[in-house]
Amino acid sequence: MKILLVDDETAILDTLAILFRGQGWDVVVADSGPKALAALEDEKPDIVLTDIRMPGATGLDVLAEARDIDAEVPVILMTAQASLQSAVRAVNEGAYYYLQKPFANDELLAICKRAAEARQLKAENKRLKKEIRSRAAHRKDRPTGSAPRFLEVLALAETVAGTDSTVLISGESGTGKEVLARYIHSLSQRSEGPFLSINCGALPESLLESELFGHVKGSFTGAVKDKDGLLVAAGGGTFFLDEIGEMSPAIQVKLLRAIQEREVIPVGATKAVPVDARIVAATNRDLEEEITRGSFRSDLYYRLNVIQLHLPPLRERREDIPLLAERFLGSGNGERYTLAEETLEALIEYDWPGNVRELQNALERAVVVSGGSVIRPDALPERVLEAPPPRLGASDLPSNPTMEVVERAYILWVLDAEGGNKTRAAEVLGIDPSTLYRKLNRYGIEES
Ligand SMILES: Nc1ncnc2c1ncn2[C@@H]1O[C@H](COP(=O)(O)OP(=O)(O)OP(=O)(O)O)[C@@H](O)[C@H]1O
Ligand SMILES: [Mg+2]
Repeated sequence: MKILLVDDETAILDTLAILFRGQGWDVVVADSGPKALAALEDEKPDIVLTDIRMPGATGLDVLAEARDIDAEVPVILMTAQASLQSAVRAVNEGAYYYLQKPFANDELLAICKRAAEARQLKAENKRLKKEIRSRAAHRKDRPTGSAPRFLEVLALAETVAGTDSTVLISGESGTGKEVLARYIHSLSQRSEGPFLSINCGALPESLLESELFGHVKGSFTGAVKDKDGLLVAAGGGTFFLDEIGEMSPAIQVKLLRAIQEREVIPVGATKAVPVDARIVAATNRDLEEEITRGSFRSDLYYRLNVIQLHLPPLRERREDIPLLAERFLGSGNGERYTLAEETLEALIEYDWPGNVRELQNALERAVVVSGGSVIRPDALPERVLEAPPPRLGASDLPSNPTMEVVERAYILWVLDAEGGNKTRAAEVLGIDPSTLYRKLNRYGIEES
């Protein structure tokens, strides 16, 4: 506890300081009203004990200022010329207690300790309320999943949410990149601000440019008035740049500038406009590969990639399927749907090339077509129920296989998957049919 003691009589200040230091409190003293006002700002005391009559500024001024800075700080007033009037006034203006001089030290200490407790309780209460609010927000928007690889991504997202760092989210289509971006926004200090987004692949270049950076009236046909770009409009909030890999080189340059300089120049304008948006970008492409191919700027990549969150495809986190299924079934209007055991098995077996989005669609459809509240496998799309293509697993090989043994097993596996059709197998293998025949001969693979 830090207490500010205010009195123009230094002898009293000294005595009080000794008394409170003896209690292990942090003591700050001020021997005039103006000094007290300065100390309130600089020292941020937890409790204030002040005399009323002082030259410069009175104890009531100190009270008003203290409550202005932090309404939760208890202020105890003391004065020799006790008058009922000033006591009533002090309490009306929010004083914690009004003490008449002379007073016993025990009495003063008891009051100050009580004030300290009240202060702590209030602070604790405030903290708890805030935590409850943010936990409720978490539960509502928290992306569903329990696979360790997925939880790692969530934990990292939660850590960076509070910062203004640029985040790059990568992952196949439908893995939940936008869901994650919104979650980061909801956990950030910007959560009260806007969450705006744009799909860089969905707009022609000129339109994308004016949407992102804004334009001034008359800069092109149809620009009938000045318009802010989304980067500016997302000020105080988060701007989600979806499908960043689809952006043209010219716009990449402008975006790089916007991120570096934290300002944009609207189309047709000469003056820059400041940008205060946190940027979260997403891509389902391998941007490093795009860089090698020359279609994505490496300097922009490094600017965006301050924090990278990679969402693994659903087939690599199958533990999440039951949880996600439950979540998607739960949104049915009132009715509770459950999955038959075989249905759940089929869901877990399937590879989900469209990831979580495909799973969600499949279940929404299943709810509609299923006759009852128990969802049987036949309510699932046919492709989900088809047997998966065979895989080449390590169990097909001896330990420490030679290259030849691996090649032989691989050819056999492809031939099998293609139903013995050598022309198609050669195509899958990426070799000439005549090469395939030679290899079959060499490995002694017979017609059977
Ligand atoms: N972890 C999750 N918890 C709950 N719902 C999810 C989760 N992941 C994805 N979804 C749902 O799946 C759908 C697809 O998610 P989202 O749009 O975020 O994917 P995306 O990665 O942005 O896909 P695309 O690359 O195609 O834009 C949404 O309807 C979303 O609600
Ligand atoms: Mg998306």
